[in-house]
Amino acid sequence: MFLAVAVALFISCGQQEQKSEMDTFISDLMPQMTIQEKIGQLNLVTPGGGILTGSVVSTDVEDKIKTGRVGGIFGIYGPGNLRQAQQMAVDESRLGIPMIFGADVIHGYKTTFPIPLGISASWDLELIEKTARIAAQEATADGIFWNFSPMVDIARDPRWGRVAEGAGEDPFLGSRVSEAMVRGYQQDDLARENTMMATVKHMALYGASEAGRDYNTVDMSRNRMFNDYLSPYKAAVDAGVGCVMTSFNDVDGIPASGNRWLLTELLREQWGFDGFVVSDYTSVNEMIDHGMGDLKAVSALALKAGLDMDMVGEGFLTTLEKSLEEGKVTEADIDLACRRVLEAKYKLGLFDDPYRYFDASRPEKDILTTENRQAAREVAARTFVLLKNDNQILPLEKSGTVALVGPLADSQNNMLGTWAPTGEHHLAVKVIDGFKNVGGDEVEILYAKGANIVDDPDYAAKINVFGPKVDIDERSPEAMIDEALAVSARADVIVAVVGEASEMSGESGNRTNLDVHEEQKKLIRALAETGKPLVLVLMAGRPLTIEEEVELADAILLTWHPGVEAGNAIADALFGDYNPSGKLTMTFPRNVGQIPLYYAHRNTGRPQAGDEFEKFKTNYLDSPNSPLFPFGYGLSCTTFEYSDVSLSTAAISTDETLEAKVTVTNTGDYDGEEVVQLYIRDVITSITRPVKELKGFQKVFLKAGESKEVSFTLSEEDLKFYNYDLNFVAEPGEFIVFIGTSSDEVKEARFFLE
Ligand code: NOJ
Repeated sequence: MFLAVAVALFISCGQQEQKSEMDTFISDLMPQMTIQEKIGQLNLVTPGGGILTGSVVSTDVEDKIKTGRVGGIFGIYGPGNLRQAQQMAVDESRLGIPMIFGADVIHGYKTTFPIPLGISASWDLELIEKTARIAAQEATADGIFWNFSPMVDIARDPRWGRVAEGAGEDPFLGSRVSEAMVRGYQQDDLARENTMMATVKHMALYGASEAGRDYNTVDMSRNRMFNDYLSPYKAAVDAGVGCVMTSFNDVDGIPASGNRWLLTELLREQWGFDGFVVSDYTSVNEMIDHGMGDLKAVSALALKAGLDMDMVGEGFLTTLEKSLEEGKVTEADIDLACRRVLEAKYKLGLFDDPYRYFDASRPEKDILTTENRQAAREVAARTFVLLKNDNQILPLEKSGTVALVGPLADSQNNMLGTWAPTGEHHLAVKVIDGFKNVGGDEVEILYAKGANIVDDPDYAAKINVFGPKVDIDERSPEAMIDEALAVSARADVIVAVVGEASEMSGESGNRTNLDVHEEQKKLIRALAETGKPLVLVLMAGRPLTIEEEVELADAILLTWHPGVEAGNAIADALFGDYNPSGKLTMTFPRNVGQIPLYYAHRNTGRPQAGDEFEKFKTNYLDSPNSPLFPFGYGLSCTTFEYSDVSLSTAAISTDETLEAKVTVTNTGDYDGEEVVQLYIRDVITSITRPVKELKGFQKVFLKAGESKEVSFTLSEEDLKFYNYDLNFVAEPGEFIVFIGTSSDEVKEARFFLE
């Protein structure tokens, strides 16, 4: 114990010393800076070239760098380019302050992993951390050391395209993923050549945009904010995230980028965040359209609120001096923001060596290595969710004839998924190639496209903004279906690869209709009519409404957009080289009218127990309440059985813990992994609380026939929530603990907190 205390003291003394060295360094530097140079540090530019997510491209970047008017750049890559840009700042600007270089490295750098919603479906925190670690290794090899990830917005409306970028609907799971990503990117030392500063985004509540429409209004109670939406941001802060990005939406009537309660009182004063806050792309300027004033007014509002760096919009650069003259902001406000940006640069080691990330020999050694690609393949297979598997049609035999059909079976441009600006489509493994690689010589593959992703050229044009994702075949839909039927007639099994193009989700990829497109539906219906075994491989960036497809197909494997190793990973999962183990992290509704639909809903005063319609209970005339697939759902090619839940005690006091145990048995024919999930319900509370809340999960591997005891420890901490006064408390009384294979298939036991 003495040793542990001594080590802790040593570390904390070391950190103190480092902090005071940093403070001294910055306190020496800042008095040398003019007010323009200080404001310059708050300016983040993008010279274009990458994917732009707004209408503005920064101009005269070179001149601005040399005159000390740029603090950081994003959207340029490669040690050569970045070294050159850094040299401009270091050698040609008056004080030689280095710049930071950022990028959106959302799900891998060049080794593209599945979309984040898919990654979360692995429920494997070590694996998730590893994806971030590999991304950091590759990005820093290419000169990027500041990442605009993780995106941790809780999302309960699948109409919103950006659900693809986050970890789904649950704050507990979302928080664990958030921490894992920050650890993976940053490790415990920002100055290391292979770590990058993470940015948690979008602070806050962006996932609750009304009607699932991007950038739209958000309005929610503090109760809901604190209990359901804020914890993943806080988890990142607790994990030491270096940067926070604001969101586009308003929070309680004030846009996030100008919201002092959010950025200062909550983030800094309550949560103790000590990094810097960057705006989202032109989100400062956008406060003009929110009705908060002209550019000068909104820029002053943002600075005063606690926003430190202005992304692209240059409101800070062009108006803060004037606001200072007019007394709308103070020099101390500007100094504070400037200091925070300089501190980040210090922590990144840039004042020691501004070129530390620009080793020209690294890209070849570190990027897209065989090991990284292998990891991408393994990760992808672990994100797939088996939604249906009647008659154990999966795994497929590695023999016989497969009709591989559908618009995504031979597509390369849709494999990486949305928001993979650093990925390279031409490196992605197509499904058809994966089948050839994994199926081997004994499998004959007959291919037909069968349908377009969408037939409507206007719709296709919106999806193709960042490059061709949808190509519309010249043949008629009927001719394409006929071809698919002809190959199916010669096959033992049909595998149809259908779903969304990658840019049907992601930013500005919102939909009001979540069906598989009609042209693909027609194909699926025709294939089902053949009576041959039909497996659907469903690619999507979000939950889709697939009630009809679930009826028609014998098996459905949901693969999201799987990344650079897409085809290999899909073939691994279909041919039994990997037994699917993913579980949904977002509820699949039956229809759009049910949205928002999520498992952790409150009970209401008129709950309806099942799907049977009961007059004057909470329900619909034209739809059951239940989802098509609930949160936590996912099958395996094997089967698992759960024992009853046993608790170590029937009551705990506030300083005690309780063990909740089940025995899980693999009762099927294959080895497999199972995500064992623990939920709780607080039975009587001072404010309404969810019917179930996830509080723990473990992914366990079980050989066929094997049993394992899975044990969870619960303490008062796990029972806490924000009460009416927003105090984080546990209320004594009865609790139900549920353990099971999904949020709606659980066994339960009860205990008391005394
Ligand atoms: C806008 C997006 O909302 C944000 O997530 C991203 O980091 C920036 N554009 C920069 O590309």
